[in-house]
Amino acid sequence: MATLYLIPFVLLLQIWPVCDAQNVKVEPFVYGYVGNQAILRCQFVDPDNSLQVTQITWMKNPTTSKVNLAVYNPEFGINYPTETSGRIHFRQVTNTDATLIIDRLEMADDGIYSCEFATYPDGNQDATTNLTILAKPQNSGKTILVQAGHAEVPVARCVSANGKPPATINWSGGSEGNVSETVTKNNNGTFTVTSEYLMIPTGDNNGEKLTCVVMQQALDRPETIPITLSVQYAPIVSIEGYDENWYLGREHASLTCSAKANPQALNYKWLMNGKPLPSSIQVDGHQLTVRDVSYIVNGTFTCEVTNSLGTGRAKMDVVVREKRLPQPSNVGAIVGGVIGGILALLLIAGLVAYFLHKRQRGAAGSYETKKRVFGTGNGAPQPEYMYRPDSDSERVPSATVTTSSTVVGHHTGEAEKLLTSEAPDYENFKSSQKEEEEDEELGSSKGPALSLPGHPRDEIQMEDDMESQRDGSIISKRAVYV
Ligand SMILES: *[C@@H]1O[C@H](CO)[C@@H](O)[C@H](O)[C@H]1NC(C)=O
Ligand SMILES: *[C@@H]1O[C@H](CO)[C@@H](O)[C@H](O)[C@H]1NC(C)=O
Ligand SMILES: *[C@@H]1O[C@H](CO)[C@@H](O)[C@H](O)[C@H]1NC(C)=O
Ligand SMILES: *[C@@H]1O[C@H](CO)[C@@H](O)[C@H](O)[C@H]1NC(C)=O
Ligand SMILES: *[C@@H]1O[C@H](CO)[C@@H](O)[C@H](O)[C@H]1NC(C)=O
Repeated sequence: MATLYLIPFVLLLQIWPVCDAQNVKVEPFVYGYVGNQAILRCQFVDPDNSLQVTQITWMKNPTTSKVNLAVYNPEFGINYPTETSGRIHFRQVTNTDATLIIDRLEMADDGIYSCEFATYPDGNQDATTNLTILAKPQNSGKTILVQAGHAEVPVARCVSANGKPPATINWSGGSEGNVSETVTKNNNGTFTVTSEYLMIPTGDNNGEKLTCVVMQQALDRPETIPITLSVQYAPIVSIEGYDENWYLGREHASLTCSAKANPQALNYKWLMNGKPLPSSIQVDGHQLTVRDVSYIVNGTFTCEVTNSLGTGRAKMDVVVREKRLPQPSNVGAIVGGVIGGILALLLIAGLVAYFLHKRQRGAAGSYETKKRVFGTGNGAPQPEYMYRPDSDSERVPSATVTTSSTVVGHHTGEAEKLLTSEAPDYENFKSSQKEEEEDEELGSSKGPALSLPGHPRDEIQMEDDMESQRDGSIISKRAVYV
């Protein structure tokens, strides 16, 4: 009868063989940097003192290469079976503490380390630590000079070299594009991540700001690398300055040729009706000036601008009129009337505001000197909140000012867009960058992502820091970084 009851009990013991017997406590994860020291803590906990430790062994990669690193026998002493030039050694081995030190960490120290206690009468017990060596990557980014075209090409590249673990690279800002990433594993176990930003480049993309963000465990904070796109394109040309009032005898009339181009265009060429300009027209680079308007300049002007990628042109039809455009003859009267009207309105508004203000002061005056004191009056000085009823009455709703730019000539639209849209975008970008940087600085003052635990390394609090798991392994409540 007794054996029938014992069978399930024995089975249970076999399923959880180390559950009751697990006395070896280690930290499951330890992280270290190349060149630093790693401390692999290992303790033997035997509250009943029922076990006798006969030998302690540290082994690397217990499931594969099984390299014995350090052996301690209470009778025979310490031995290091593997030559490591003294880099790997016990800290101060006793029957209950087998903490191992690894100095001058190398990439190759990455691996699983098992701390094994041979005991009597229970036999061998071990626990493993996964030591991960981290390497800070070298990050860089650059623009790839491209020409405007119709095919998708890489326009910027970010590289995070020789890091472990491999970095994550994200892109932000700029026009919509695709990202292509390659990860290569280097011989020493580090990774190099290359991320390219692809788009179909146009002249509008030239000068656009992109940011690549590199995130990696060994970096204190994500590294942001700003990149300015460089897209070469043939000149985009427009003619400005035509006021539609070129009349016979006018003494000064001019046209200006504007071009956006990369590389910069230096060569401007003016034509009239497809032929060289009449000699009476003065040309100074991109500016054309007529000193005495006559029917000679009645026609179509063309400005041609050339750079290494090609030629852009713009046209302007000039119609010479016989007489000056009738100007509003009573300009003075109109201006005077308008100014007078505005002054009158201001005066009325001022009077109304003054009387309203006076009435409100009269009604609210009794509150003016009263102070509303919040608090319990327990003797401590309390902040005073004063009610100021008139502080809002002088506020004027702020006007929204919308400026619109005049578009002259059919090419000007694009040029205007280029000229007006980029600067504010850049300002926004800069200010948001700044905010991000400030945020990051705030974040870093709270402590870098990768930091030492807040207690001295020598102070061992194994029982507090570690937990046994149901499967017999031990899990540290926190990982240790060295
Ligand atoms: C060790 O831990 C790292 C993460 O810290 C993990 O990537 C790696 O796979 C682990 N190694 C083993 C053998 O479990
Ligand atoms: C980075 O990009 C990945 C995928 O592209 C995304 O899942 C992740 O949220 C991004 N991280 C940040 C911080 O933007
Ligand atoms: C991204 O790739 C897809 C598919 O290859 C393509 O259709 C799309 O145009 C690309 N986007 C850009 C901005 O180049
Ligand atoms: C890994 O190897 C690369 C060359 O392949 C080297 O530049 C880098 O410094 C090495 N990193 C470490 C941590 O040894
Ligand atoms: C000026 O040119 C316009 C066309 O651009 C034409 O219609 C007009 O007749 C011309 N005037 C003179 C006086 O040549």
